[in-house]
Amino acid sequence: MPLLVILGINGRQGSSVARAFLNAPGWRIRGLTSSPKCRSSEDWRTLGVETVHTELNNDESVLNAFKGVTAVFAVIDFYSILEDHTVQTLAGIQSMRPEDVAVEREMHYGKNILRAAAATEGLQRLVLSTLWTSPTTQRGRDQAMVKAWLVRHLEEKYRDLWAKTSYLQPCARMEDCTTMISRNEDGTLRFGTIVSTPTARIPWINVEKDFGRLARTLIEYAKPRQNVAAISEWLSGGEICSLIEELSGLQCSYQVLTPAELQRSNKIMVDLISPTEPYNYYAGTTLTPDQLAGNYQINLPMTTFRDYLLERLPRLLQGMINAGSSGRT
Ligand SMILES: NC(=O)c1ccc[n+]([C@@H]2O[C@H](COP(=O)([O-])OP(=O)(O)OC[C@H]3O[C@@H](n4cnc5c(N)ncnc54)[C@H](OP(=O)(O)O)[C@@H]3O)[C@@H](O)[C@H]2O)c1
Repeated sequence: MPLLVILGINGRQGSSVARAFLNAPGWRIRGLTSSPKCRSSEDWRTLGVETVHTELNNDESVLNAFKGVTAVFAVIDFYSILEDHTVQTLAGIQSMRPEDVAVEREMHYGKNILRAAAATEGLQRLVLSTLWTSPTTQRGRDQAMVKAWLVRHLEEKYRDLWAKTSYLQPCARMEDCTTMISRNEDGTLRFGTIVSTPTARIPWINVEKDFGRLARTLIEYAKPRQNVAAISEWLSGGEICSLIEELSGLQCSYQVLTPAELQRSNKIMVDLISPTEPYNYYAGTTLTPDQLAGNYQINLPMTTFRDYLLERLPRLLQGMINAGSSGRT
């Protein structure tokens, strides 16, 4: 029976991949985690997912976790590393920027993952979550740089592994949009992003529903060496306001937020989406989900913003009304 190993099983991307495979005939799933005793790890075990405690900084640990694997989904979360107290402490001791220490650590984790994958017999597919973008903020550049470095490292040092690899590139999280909707005192709504023009389209991914299905397509149906833009829908702030108006019956206006205003609830947008050129998010040759589905004649519908808001907006609006909220939620 084929075995799928998922890094970050308790994270957004990893759990989406796991859900996409839960009912896939014949697959066993092994989720790697640094917290095997947490509630979420327990929930995965209830669903039949094996969870394995793995230290990404320990190459033996990663190698053991990959034993018997058929396919690997790999993501390394820059923010978790950056917030790790040991990174902060090390940065203080060495008078370095915490981001530089985090970059070094992500490189170290990435090297261990690639070395272990390359040494694992029977591995047929690696799907690597990565970024091909040119962010405008320093923290965005740090994480794009380390993700690009890992791709170069793979392609230069592990050519056999590269021949079994595909890339999946996420963008702005659709799920975060609810943090960008606010209610004005007069009961009307506003929707805000950092993008300065309401007509500029932003790439959005519904991580929960769509990311995992794209990873599954890359593992089960597609040839390797694909580079896929994980986009559910391109939509501008103005278009999202129109959808909110249509679905809620309330007036909604577009608001340009400062990075500081969005920082707490949506670091990814602040770091990775350019306020002035969102069109440049995907550089290089990337396939859209439609093109991927077309190449393999499969049905791969992505979640539309309308579907997402239809499901989420009523509860969100009710919460705002109950809270008597007049500010951002
Ligand atoms: N739309 C998007 O999602 C999007 C867009 C652009 C870029 N990205 C990139 O994708 C990455 C985030 O992925 P995600 O959203 O899936 O992350 P996430 O939901 O925050 O999950 C992070 C995972 O990392 C693991 N982790 C936590 N602390 C760790 C540590 N100190 N060292 C190693 N691993 C640790 C956790 O697993 P355990 O606790 O189980 O170990 C957790 O499952 C970021 O690097 C970001 O730049 C994402």
